Amino acid sequence: MNSGNSRRNFFYTAGGIGAGLLGLPLWSEPLFDQLQDAAKNIAHLSPEEAATAEDFWYLIQKAYRQSPHFINLENGYFSPQPLEVMQAQADNIKMINEIPSFYMRRRQFEEKAGVKKQLADLAGCSPEEIVVTRNTTESLDTIIAGIDFAPGDEAIMCDQDYGSMLEAFEQQARRRGLVNRFIELPLHPTSDEEIVSRYESAITGKTKIILVTHLINISGQVLPVRKIADMAHKHGVEVLCDGAHSFAQLDFKIPDLHCDYYGASLHKWLCCPLGAGILYVKKDKISGVWPLFGDTTWPADDIRKFEHIGTHPVSTNLTISNAVKFHQSIGAARKEARLKYLQSYWTSQVRNVPGIILNTPEASQRHGAIANVAVEGLSPNELADQLYNRFNIFTVAINNPSVKGVRITPHLYTRLEDLDTLVKGLKTLANK
Ligand SMILES: Cc1ncc(COP(=O)(O)O)c(C=O)c1O
Repeated sequence: MNSGNSRRNFFYTAGGIGAGLLGLPLWSEPLFDQLQDAAKNIAHLSPEEAATAEDFWYLIQKAYRQSPHFINLENGYFSPQPLEVMQAQADNIKMINEIPSFYMRRRQFEEKAGVKKQLADLAGCSPEEIVVTRNTTESLDTIIAGIDFAPGDEAIMCDQDYGSMLEAFEQQARRRGLVNRFIELPLHPTSDEEIVSRYESAITGKTKIILVTHLINISGQVLPVRKIADMAHKHGVEVLCDGAHSFAQLDFKIPDLHCDYYGASLHKWLCCPLGAGILYVKKDKISGVWPLFGDTTWPADDIRKFEHIGTHPVSTNLTISNAVKFHQSIGAARKEARLKYLQSYWTSQVRNVPGIILNTPEASQRHGAIANVAVEGLSPNELADQLYNRFNIFTVAINNPSVKGVRITPHLYTRLEDLDTLVKGLKTLANK
């Protein structure tokens, strides 16, 4: 096993990696092959055991190239692409550029359908229930703007849902007279039932839909979507799930969630090029939603009515295929376990330190990679600045009325020594 130091040198100085995009080979053998061999070596381990098999994760770290100038613990915005995926995107751009309108008129539809099938398999649903979109915002806005809400209809959401989604509901309030009801979520719930009952208590005879965020971006808390959906359906209420952070971070299939609609960004945890998303609409709900962009050529219950977005970078759609392959070479369960391990690696070292406050639940089923931390006496902005200026760690300050702290989001390429630096920084700042 290499020492941390030699790993650091390889990781940051592997000049051949950058050379790949310039036309030189990336690896002596394709990364996917290396990964498959390495995965065979740990196949006998449970995901939790594999989460600490550092030799395997070292190989994954090598798949990404990151700046040596600071430690990036703000991977919640979007994910860097593994080098091999980035190379595939460059190849796809080149290929389309060489046969531009020929490709668009004769080949794009078939090739995009193949990618969609691959994505549907990963999501555990039929291609007839998903659409490739550009991001979560487009996916969820399609639903929020596409349902014919009547004046007085009600929607339920929570204080920690994503701002753009709340904006989309607010727009429907102004446009159609929708009434939005907010619940408050506990930062440290004691049970799933505590959460489910908060949503249930806001339901009235006029409630039409509940927005539920699967993995809350500002705190890192994972919500029991399936239990919330089962409860909502008993009241005849639909559920729209914001899966921006859950898809390809947590190991699940979309139908497991029992929601009616689900949207996610593939440029987050699936590590696709920027501008890729997924929208799932349960088959029997498709006809009840208008597309954002007019398209009457498909029957009302055909998911393809949502695919009409005009001319777009098809290279991005095609590269989803390579990102799925990379994800599958790691294994969804192993990836989730590693990300949870990275989170608990540092949170467990500061959870009981005086002056340090964790705003993320401890139980393994209630978090993924993300956690939110505060230090007494420092505002979120001050903490983010101190971590960057003194410890070279980049994070993001969260100043939500319900969650105040900095969000820490490690990634698969994050090294344990980076998290040691974080722990040292937090303890130093709390000690003042
Ligand atoms: C919970 C949540 N929902 C929606 C979004 C919007 O994602 P995008 O900007 O990719 O559309 C984000 C982005 O960070 C998010 O965290």
